[in-house]
Amino acid sequence: MAEFKEISPDASAGEKLLNWVDNRFPASKLYKEHLSEYYAPKNFNFWYFFGSLALLVLVIQIVTGIFLVMHYKPDAALAFGSVEYIMRDVPWGWLIRYMHSTGASAFFVVVYLHMYRGLIYGSYRKPRELVWVFGCAIFLCLMAEAFMGYLLPWGQMSYWGAQVIVNLFAAVPFVGPDLALLIRGDYVVGDATLNRFFSFHVIAVPLVLLGLVVAHIIALHEVGSNNPDGVEIKGPNAPKDAHGHPLDGIPFHPYYTVHDILGVSGFLLVFSAVIFFAPEFGGYFLEYNNFIPADPLKTPLHIAPVWYFTPFYSMLRAITSEMMYALIACVLAGAYFGATRPSLPKVVKGGIVGAAVLVSLLMLSIDAKFWGVVAMGGAVVILFFLPWLDNCEVKSIRYRPDWHKYMYGVFVVNFVALAYLGVQPPSAIGERVSQVGTLFYFGFFLLMPMWSRIGATKPVPDRVTFTPH
Ligand code: HEM
Repeated sequence: MAEFKEISPDASAGEKLLNWVDNRFPASKLYKEHLSEYYAPKNFNFWYFFGSLALLVLVIQIVTGIFLVMHYKPDAALAFGSVEYIMRDVPWGWLIRYMHSTGASAFFVVVYLHMYRGLIYGSYRKPRELVWVFGCAIFLCLMAEAFMGYLLPWGQMSYWGAQVIVNLFAAVPFVGPDLALLIRGDYVVGDATLNRFFSFHVIAVPLVLLGLVVAHIIALHEVGSNNPDGVEIKGPNAPKDAHGHPLDGIPFHPYYTVHDILGVSGFLLVFSAVIFFAPEFGGYFLEYNNFIPADPLKTPLHIAPVWYFTPFYSMLRAITSEMMYALIACVLAGAYFGATRPSLPKVVKGGIVGAAVLVSLLMLSIDAKFWGVVAMGGAVVILFFLPWLDNCEVKSIRYRPDWHKYMYGVFVVNFVALAYLGVQPPSAIGERVSQVGTLFYFGFFLLMPMWSRIGATKPVPDRVTFTPH
């Protein structure tokens, strides 16, 4: 037990109260550790707004969600009507609902930018591997949360979107049909599905999400933040002042709390503009088909998931039986390059060739639809391994070979193209482009151990670069 701290009898009532609390709960200690004495690099740029913005959107979603649940009815016969009731009759219900629906898209915008910042500044590299891994788990939870939330209004898109995605699980060999049945709770998406998705959306996933966000921030504060230069400000060789504080760091509070107010203001301007002037956002945030009540007898002409899932949906659609031959060619080519490395013993080489042949046979014998599901899931799972795929000598894009910048640029263009194709109805040309896009996406990560080593890096400065303004 920590020592009891006495306080002068002349202290103010507030100080006495705080002292009383501090003797029982580490309030001041936590405040110092995570805010007033958490030293963050002084060269943060706008990319560093998105972590605190993600926190803000998380709070918005939880608070608006609580109010929505007060009026929403998780019942297949009443759900659609209860959402219309919220929109038309509940005082300010329309605002709460639009904040929540726009919040879902805003969450993904903010989190995608937050992840991309991590990618370009190498924030996932040692010692921040766990910060990144917790982040990836958050991203998975966020996808599950958004997917289940989308079923709740019980519109045509809610219903058919869930039908398509849950049916994908049926493609898993052996256990697939039972798995799909377990998820649905019925042979088709129905009332049982709505009830379980409601339960997961409202309590189970948010609890895990909150726990992961806390773990994410604790892990970050344990090792300290990275910065646009990728220079460690707290390492044993980093310059420090007489109190041992990093010379290149500034206390998070008040400096970054005030700095983040700028980010929050900019975000709220855009967020409010969307809520008040374009809440459907041209059918991207709220799809038009979802204003029609779910009808199990009428399949919409074109079913597309919400925009933030479409890059992954494109990868799913790209895996046709024809594409399987291209993938098998990739597996065999990979095995060939692996097996011709002179340093490897013969047994290992034989193992590589054998494994490649086995994998190829397996790929041929299971339906391409299943491999589509594997590609869709794999596209997210691969992110977890990023810290161990990157072999570049330096962290930040600023000091990497110039051509790496183009590589990261093409990665963005490719991801946006896949997202665009995912909303479009299937077409021959779209299918080809998304197949090339899928190969690039996986090639980017799987070949990173090799390409990240190529080219001359620039000298990394000892101190962060910072121009006062
Ligand atoms: C609910 C979602 C999330 C919240 C609330 C959140 C919150 C935060 C906060 C507050 C920070 C510190 C401020 C900053 O560096 O911007 C941070 C840093 C970080 N986050 Fe997240 N995050 C979320 C999702 C993610 C995801 C999905 C990833 C990656 C897959 C990720 C990876 C990182 C990394 C690598 C850092 C350290 C960045 C650096 O020091 O340069 N985060 N996060």
